[in-house]
Amino acid sequence: MSAPVPDLQELLSVATEAAARAARLLVDERPPDLGVAATKSSPTDPVTEMDRASERLVVETVLARRPGDGFFGEEGADRAGTSGVVWVIDPIDGTVNYLYDHPFWAVSVAAEVEGEAVVGVVAAPAVGETFWAVRGGGAHLSSDAGSRPLQVNSGVALDRALVGTGFGYAAERRARQGAVVAQLLPRVRDIRRGGSAAYDLCSLAAGRLDAYYERGVQRWDTAAGALVAREAGAVVGGVRGAAASPELTVAAAPGLFDDLAALLAELGADRD
Ligand code: IPD
Repeated sequence: MSAPVPDLQELLSVATEAAARAARLLVDERPPDLGVAATKSSPTDPVTEMDRASERLVVETVLARRPGDGFFGEEGADRAGTSGVVWVIDPIDGTVNYLYDHPFWAVSVAAEVEGEAVVGVVAAPAVGETFWAVRGGGAHLSSDAGSRPLQVNSGVALDRALVGTGFGYAAERRARQGAVVAQLLPRVRDIRRGGSAAYDLCSLAAGRLDAYYERGVQRWDTAAGALVAREAGAVVGGVRGAAASPELTVAAAPGLFDDLAALLAELGADRD
């Protein structure tokens, strides 16, 4: 017997509460001396400690309201659950930005049913923004200015596109990603490297980028942001007809997606 279809508004309420609590913790409890030197000399990485505390808080918040749900988190949350709902969590997406106190980092919380995100919340407290989407219900941005629906830019030609991307942590992967970006740069308007895949996908949804691609992003990095981007009108996929995956994730409005995906395939952006 399959699990009952969950109430998406309830999932949105849970996701919003969990992301907001974790975001507040990360702002309020950020160690005052958190910095590169402190992290290098400390036996326990304070960034990792904050990642873990954030993920724990998201899990606790969800379990208090939905004890049967499952989890899949960057910091190790892993439980199948019994309800059919699995929460995919990146407790700090943009960890290096958090370390350096650059504002573009986010708590990313998605609820998946049968492997598909149905609710996504990306809370970026350092810029006072929370992006959220419910499958079939559009994408939205909430801030002190209120709440507004989001729509990706459409009708942008590849050579006029502002393209967000990111780089992995391994040196060999980065060398290859650099070679791809060097060939892409003369063929687009410009490149941005924001430092948080979740925030990049939400920036695309808000029209602050025309496209985004990256090799190596994981399910927790993109689960919530990809739903926000899709609900704002983006196509999110891979190249050569593949689905979005750690091999390559590409996102843009429909026509631009095809042109960018074709160029990325030609450049071998999905290969090391
Ligand atoms: C990273 C960020 C970054 C991207 C990296 C990711 P993390 O996630 O999303 O923008 O370029 O590939 O690993 O490590 O900060 O959760």
